[in-house]
Amino acid sequence: VASHDFFSNSINRSSFPAGFLFGTASSSFQYEGAAKEGGKGPSIWDTFTHRYPDRIKDGSNGDVAIDFYHRYKDDVDMMKEIGMDAFRLSISWPRLLPNGKLSGGVNKEGIRFYNSLIDELLSNGIQPFVTLFHWDLPQALEDDYGGFLSSKIIEDFRDYSELCFKEFGDRVKHWITFNEPSIFSNQGYSLGRYAPGRCSRWVNSKCSAGNSATEPYVVGHNQLLAHAATVKLYKEEYQAAQKGKIGITLVCHWMVPFSNEKRNVAAAQRAIDFTYGWFMDPLAHGDYPKSMRSLVGTRLPRFTIKQSALVKGSFDFLGLNYYTGFYAADAAPSNTIVNVSYNTDYHVNTFTQRNETPIGPKTAVSWLSVYPRGIHDLLIYTKTRYKNPVIYITENGIPEPNNITLIMEEALKDDVRINYHSRHFQFLLRAIKEGVDVRGYFAWSLFDHFDWALGYTLRYGIGYVDYKDRLERYPKRSAIWFKSFLKSYNKM
Ligand code: BG6
Repeated sequence: VASHDFFSNSINRSSFPAGFLFGTASSSFQYEGAAKEGGKGPSIWDTFTHRYPDRIKDGSNGDVAIDFYHRYKDDVDMMKEIGMDAFRLSISWPRLLPNGKLSGGVNKEGIRFYNSLIDELLSNGIQPFVTLFHWDLPQALEDDYGGFLSSKIIEDFRDYSELCFKEFGDRVKHWITFNEPSIFSNQGYSLGRYAPGRCSRWVNSKCSAGNSATEPYVVGHNQLLAHAATVKLYKEEYQAAQKGKIGITLVCHWMVPFSNEKRNVAAAQRAIDFTYGWFMDPLAHGDYPKSMRSLVGTRLPRFTIKQSALVKGSFDFLGLNYYTGFYAADAAPSNTIVNVSYNTDYHVNTFTQRNETPIGPKTAVSWLSVYPRGIHDLLIYTKTRYKNPVIYITENGIPEPNNITLIMEEALKDDVRINYHSRHFQFLLRAIKEGVDVRGYFAWSLFDHFDWALGYTLRYGIGYVDYKDRLERYPKRSAIWFKSFLKSYNKM
C-alpha cells in the first residue's frame, strides 16, 4: 500500500484528542556512545558486547553508537524541525553513578549532560519522557551482587532514581521506571541473548537447553519491587512539589488464537499472561496471573501481603510498546522436557502465518510482521482487564535491513514505514474512540541506532544515520511525512 493511501483516509493530527503528544523514542545505550567519556562507568552492555562479540550479529558494540552524547543539540533541532512534541530518552545509570551506588559518588559531568539535554529539549518546546532503566545496569552492581538477581538492587535503584528526581524532576514531568522488564528478564536470564547473557549451557555460542528456570522470574520480581519502591518514594516525597507523573513501560505482542479451538484460545491467553500479565497483573491486581502461578509453581516468587499492596496500583500511567502480532497455538506440555525454562513453561507455539497466510507483511526481522489491528486489540484488552489506565504508546516501529545492497538513496524512501505508522494510527484512533485513554504516541525511533543482539544490522529510524560517513543524519521520507502530518494540527 502506498503512503498516499493514508491521506485519502483523511486522518490527520486533528483527528486525535486535543493535547495528544507525538514523539519519538530512544535509549541511552543505543544512542549515546561516549562509553568511556565524561566519567561514565561501564554498564553490563559494555561488558557483554566486548566480552562476547560473537553474540552480537555484526560483532559491534555501543562505544560510539550514534554519538548522541555529542550531537544531541543537532538532533533536537531535527525533532523540532519535524514538529515533535515529546522525546523519550533514557538515563544511563552508570553515567550518573559509575559505581552504581550513591555512596560511590555522583558523576557531575553526567548530571551536566542530562541537564543540558533536558534544557535543550524544553527550550525547543519538546517534553522529555525519561526512562530510568533501559537495560544498561552499572557493571559494578552486577559484579557486586548479581544485579537484578539480588533484592539489594531495590534500594540501589531507588537511590539512583531519587538522584534523578532531585536533579531533573523540576523539569521532567513524565518518569518511566523500567523498559520492558519481560524482555530484559527473558533475553538476559533465559535466552542469554542480551546482557548480562545468563544461560547455564552454551553450545556453539548459542544458549542451548539448560536455560535457567528460575532466574527470569526472580529478575522480573525484583524489577517489580524496585519499581514499586521508587514510585512510593516519588509519590511521597516529590510528586506534590514537582507535579510529575510516574509509570512503567511494558511490551505486548498481540496473540491471535491459531484456531477457534478452545485449547488455542487458552494458549493465546497464556502467552499474553506470561509476557504482559506477568507485570501488568501485579501492577493492577497485586499478584501474578493464575496461569503463571499454577504452571511455574514454587519457582515463581511470591509477594508478601505488604509487597503486593505496594505493587498494586503503583503507576500513574502505563507505557505500552507495540510492534507486532502472532498466532498462538497450544503446545501440549511434554513429559520428556528435560530442561524446564521460562520459554517452555507456558507451552505455546507462536507462528507468523496460518494455512500459509501470513498474519501481516514481513519486515527485516523474523519476529516482526505488520499487524496494526493488534494495537487496537491490545488497547481494548488493557482497558477492559485493567480498569482503563492512562496510556502512552512508548514505542511502535519497524526496521529495514542495513545491508550493502540497500544504498542510502533507497533507504531514504521508506514508504513502508509511513504505511506502518499510518495504519497503526488508524487502529489507535479507533481504540481512542472506543474509550481507551491514550495520551501520546512515540515512534521507535528518531534515528537508526545500535539494536542490541543485532548490532547495526537494522535501521529503525525515521532519520537515517550514515555509518560510513561520520554518522551524518538525513531525514527519511517518513520524517518528512511526520512533519506534514504534525503540521495539519492546530495547536491549542
Ligand atoms: C524494544 C526495545 O524491545 O524494541 C528497544 O525497547 C528495541 O530498545 C526495540 O531496540 C526493537 O526491537 P529489537 O528486538 O529489534 O531490538
